[in-house]
Amino acid sequence: MTAPTDTITLNDGHTIPQLGLGVWELTPEEAYSSTRAAIAAGIRHIDTAAGYGNEAEVGRAVADAVADGEVTRDDLFITTKLWNADQGYDDALEALGVSLDNLGLDHVDLWLIHWPVEKWDRYVDTWKAFVTAREEGRARSIGVSNFYPEVLDEIVRATGVTPAVNQIEIHPGLSQQEQRADNQARGIATESWSPLGRGVLGHPVIEKIAAEHGVTPAQVVIRWHLDQGLIVFPRSRRPERVAENADVAGFSLTPDQVEAITAIDDDPDYSGRIGADPRDAVFGTPLA
Ligand SMILES: NC(=O)c1ccc[n+]([C@@H]2O[C@H](COP(=O)([O-])OP(=O)(O)OC[C@H]3O[C@@H](n4cnc5c(N)ncnc54)[C@H](OP(=O)(O)O)[C@@H]3O)[C@@H](O)[C@H]2O)c1
Repeated sequence: MTAPTDTITLNDGHTIPQLGLGVWELTPEEAYSSTRAAIAAGIRHIDTAAGYGNEAEVGRAVADAVADGEVTRDDLFITTKLWNADQGYDDALEALGVSLDNLGLDHVDLWLIHWPVEKWDRYVDTWKAFVTAREEGRARSIGVSNFYPEVLDEIVRATGVTPAVNQIEIHPGLSQQEQRADNQARGIATESWSPLGRGVLGHPVIEKIAAEHGVTPAQVVIRWHLDQGLIVFPRSRRPERVAENADVAGFSLTPDQVEAITAIDDDPDYSGRIGADPRDAVFGTPLA
């Protein structure tokens, strides 16, 4: 069973709380209130991104929680991501400065390349910038998101540095066994994005398991991630759900229950991606 503050050790020796809060699609005000609610509920890991437009409010929530004596900066693990349009060696390092200014921090605990955008062919230079940022101490750990074996091979070949994490879409209906095994073979920790899926909380298998444990469907799905060693940061704009999502230490799933939820991959009504396929995804302004 995992308490909100339980950690996983990354390949660079740093630790990351396995359970966090995601803030994608939250308005700045919601990002502030959900971050405060998460810290109050014992969550110590916040996952934001330059592309989410709410780094400043996450940073303000962190500063206020520290000022109110709830936590210290060192208790917290803050992730942000480089937006696609800022890929490239110099642009990436400059964009990190902007993110740190927005967050009001001198370093992030984890900085991720948000998407590889293979067709723009800047991800290798971008990864070199990430290595520099780690050497500078402005990013304690560095990693990637939405990467797949071919692009992982290239950035590691060019730098000799393996990402600490790869953040990919994972939820019941898209358990991503292959990419998870690939990450594991390389010593990369896997983070699950959109962990609650879309509509899957109403799946009969999940409802049945929730009833067996006397917990909510969201809590079952969060445990499905945690019990498989995945790092997970569900998002909610509602403080009561932020607290519910943090309250998952009192039970764990049996191997059969984990397997039954994973088998939703084969249910055509619930299986498949809800986000873009990283091999095709191009978001943001094309680079000159
Ligand atoms: N790297 C990437 O490309 C990428 C892509 C997507 C997401 N992410 C990261 O992953 C995080 C999580 O993914 P996500 O934001 O897509 O979605 P998610 O956490 O899987 O699901 C969020 C949705 O679930 C609802 N919800 C939350 N808690 C609930 C509960 N206890 N019961 C019922 N419904 C609940 C929320 O509604 P309410 O707000 O109304 O509660 C919201 O509609 C993001 O915030 C972001 O940090 C990264």
